[in-house]
Amino acid sequence: MDIRVELNANPGVKPQDASKLGFGKIFTDHMFMMEYDRENGWHDARIVPYGNICVSPASTVLHYGAEIFEGMKAYRRPDGEIQLFRPLDNFDRMNQSADRLCLPQIDPDFCLKALKKLIDIDRDWVPSAEGASLYIRPFLFGNDPFLGVHTVNNAVFVIILSPSGSYYKEGVNPVRIMIETEDVRAVRGGTGYAKCGGNYAASMRAGEKAEKKGFAQVLWLDGVERKYVEEVGSMNVMFKINGVVVTPKLTGSVLPGITRRSCIALLKEWGVPVEERLVSVEELAEAVKTGALEEAFGCGTAAVISPIGELSVDDVPYVVNGGNIGEVTQKLYDELTGIQWGKKADPFGWTEAI
Ligand code: PLP
Ligand code: COI
Repeated sequence: MDIRVELNANPGVKPQDASKLGFGKIFTDHMFMMEYDRENGWHDARIVPYGNICVSPASTVLHYGAEIFEGMKAYRRPDGEIQLFRPLDNFDRMNQSADRLCLPQIDPDFCLKALKKLIDIDRDWVPSAEGASLYIRPFLFGNDPFLGVHTVNNAVFVIILSPSGSYYKEGVNPVRIMIETEDVRAVRGGTGYAKCGGNYAASMRAGEKAEKKGFAQVLWLDGVERKYVEEVGSMNVMFKINGVVVTPKLTGSVLPGITRRSCIALLKEWGVPVEERLVSVEELAEAVKTGALEEAFGCGTAAVISPIGELSVDDVPYVVNGGNIGEVTQKLYDELTGIQWGKKADPFGWTEAI
């Protein structure tokens, strides 16, 4: 399929001070779009000026939340070139999400080609400041003008780009996380493993509660026993307990994070023991008391590697590593960001030049 290009005649002003970028607030001059219907498959692929999207007031996405998305980044290397990190993993995961929500499959290779072309057109928007990158948000939604609850015949796929800095105001400083004991995010058999908008809509009440109490985000418990920790609002979670890095296993209600997968590969490469298993709040609380919990951190595309300085359960604070970043957390941060920004060698072949 060809990709038609319509250039933006009124390009925006690029931000000068990358330290003030924040996350996901400003957008580049162009976006990629294509449409799907059952007869024609995906068609009308185009790069057009960034702007509002017109949908029917009866559109499936507005009523039944038929939407999935991805999050990845383009990084400015020290030599000025631009690279992506494991982009095909994101498009593959989008297909897993699409399968769960009965949305049409995409062709990962074509989407990667489209993404590269889009970034090439907007390449001057890729920030070069320390820690800043171009956040990439592909999303796909069902778009039938019909109020019946039914799998869709029409869908739209879009990619938008946002020059961004750090996700948390804390940057790489440890964040305080609240373990949520009332609301749940996902249950086995539900949509937890899919990256669909509805998961995030259901998470906002707890997120707001946490924010009001001064926490950066919520750590979710499993939806059945409410006993095992699963993941944080926008990142997977890892704990170093007695020298072993333990991370909740992928039970179906946890998002299979690409950063998580990369951290596990790095840790194994370094000979650090890693366990993917159930982790209970009780085990964590006990490990804090005995001093066995050496480090805790979250990992995700937007959040990168984010040390956790405090875990709070029902207003009881559990301080991790004196509220400081741990040694393995720091090493993972350095290695991963080194590979992503092209400052370190990439022995795994994770990066992809634009
Ligand atoms: N868990 C949730 C709920 C997320 O939103 C994210 C972010 O994408 C992650 C985990 C981490 O996934 P990844 O490393 O693929 O960005
Ligand atoms: C990402 O890390 O890419 C995410 O999608 C997290 C997001 C919900 C901000």
